[in-house]
Amino acid sequence: MAILKIARMGHPVLLRKCDPVADPGAPEIRRLVADMIETMEDAPGVGLAAPQVFQPLRLFVFRVPGGRSTEDPDDSPLENTVMINPEVELIGEERALAWEGCLSIPDLRAAVPRATRIRYRGVDCDGNVTEREATGFHARIVQHEYDHLDGILYTMRMTDFRYFGFTDELDRAAAAQGRQG
Ligand code: NI
Repeated sequence: MAILKIARMGHPVLLRKCDPVADPGAPEIRRLVADMIETMEDAPGVGLAAPQVFQPLRLFVFRVPGGRSTEDPDDSPLENTVMINPEVELIGEERALAWEGCLSIPDLRAAVPRATRIRYRGVDCDGNVTEREATGFHARIVQHEYDHLDGILYTMRMTDFRYFGFTDELDRAAAAQGRQG
């Protein structure tokens, strides 16, 4: 296994529509998935899409850490999940704003509107199908990672650029606000 170099915003690989994975069980895809999981954990991040490691393929990995999930049963903590050739369907019209970062946009964070409920489906390297409904953080991360497969970064989803800043400054501001009340 290996920790892979991560493409940063500005590199054209992040802006293209990725190609379907022809054979999810192929040795090179298994190796790529293993390396992507290691790279995501090392970063550390909660999701990583293949174009972020310079492979324009429809595949991503993600996890829902215990600290980020909510009470909703469709937003419980989740171990590393592999999504190959995924499909995502937004359910309903409800959208919510919440903070997102991206390993390809280091040190920055923004409030991004996303659908609050989705249904998604994909396979892993052994052909096992995962089909789930998700809400909250779980739904948000799947939408973020899926966007990467179509060349869409979170900056392209933003609607209010006041909520865009450096992570350390935002944390400082939030702490200051917390002290005030
Ligand atoms: Ni990202």
